[in-house]
Amino acid sequence: MRRVDLTINGLDAKRLVLLCPSSPMRGVAVDLSINSTITLNNGAAMPRFGLGVYQTPIGAPTENAVKWALAAGYRHVDTARLYKNEVSVGKAIRESDVAREDVFVTTKLWPTDLLHIQAAFDRSLAHLDLDYVDLYLIHFPVPGRISAMWRSMEQLAASGKARSIGVSNFTSRQLGSLLRRASVPPSVNQVRASVFGYNKATYALCQKEGVAFEAYSPLHRGKGLDDAVVTEVAARYKKSTAQVLLRWGLQKNMVVIPKSARESRIAENADVFDFEISEADMARLNAVSK
Ligand SMILES: NC(=O)c1ccc[n+]([C@@H]2O[C@H](COP(=O)([O-])OP(=O)(O)OC[C@H]3O[C@@H](n4cnc5c(N)ncnc54)[C@H](OP(=O)(O)O)[C@@H]3O)[C@@H](O)[C@H]2O)c1
Repeated sequence: MRRVDLTINGLDAKRLVLLCPSSPMRGVAVDLSINSTITLNNGAAMPRFGLGVYQTPIGAPTENAVKWALAAGYRHVDTARLYKNEVSVGKAIRESDVAREDVFVTTKLWPTDLLHIQAAFDRSLAHLDLDYVDLYLIHFPVPGRISAMWRSMEQLAASGKARSIGVSNFTSRQLGSLLRRASVPPSVNQVRASVFGYNKATYALCQKEGVAFEAYSPLHRGKGLDDAVVTEVAARYKKSTAQVLLRWGLQKNMVVIPKSARESRIAENADVFDFEISEADMARLNAVSK
């Protein structure tokens, strides 16, 4: 089925799907698009769907991946100092037809830089060759140092060069403790989450406290794409199993950032906005990780 965030002959996308007699989506509202955003607790808009570039090599592979993604409609790229490809991410954005302000760029602080957070941030910004990042994350919690690190993160937010700040790989206990002490609450917790598992307590806390729950490895790193339940659901919607995994995350109110370095998969992964997984099938998928 074609993507449906279009208007054709005066009919909007949702109506086209609803009118299509063979559509498994008949009668179901389709209300997400690749442009959908989540409003963060500081008022910033974060695209619900983005490209991850972990393990995408610096140079042409990352530049191409980002350019293909932007051409396919992605407006969100997730990198990190650790990934060593910030230079290529920034170059691809600058060389694309998409304006800087229309792309949401995330990078992350690696724990070894915990004593030099401002310098680490400045280095990431220099590598990206951007004036600001949309989101800066503490990549991993460092027990005993979280409060001190967060104060530096708050200063980066105050400078305006990190438009939003957040955390990654924080447990519900670590996030709860930070939320109680922070002057500026974290806007995002980026954690591993897919149909095959995620931390339910962290998810619940994020939903309750208005911290965006960002799912990394939403494709389970490509393992499990032959799972029987996911395959059965995918067949029902005439979608790939990868697409079902991503759509599940979106319908769980997660931000999803699949990684691919291949043009065809980058397009395939973005083609998840013309169907909606029914409640019954969401329940089947939810049971996979129980
Ligand atoms: N904060 C953290 O600690 C943390 C940790 C891990 C990841 N992340 C972020 O989250 C992003 C995504 O996570 P991830 O890279 O770990 O894993 P992922 O997105 O779950 O899976 C990526 C793997 O799936 C393959 N793949 C992609 N699309 C596919 C498709 N349609 N069909 C079949 N295989 C497909 C990719 O191979 P090809 O490239 O060959 O297509 C790659 O091997 C990362 O890139 C990174 O930005 C953050």
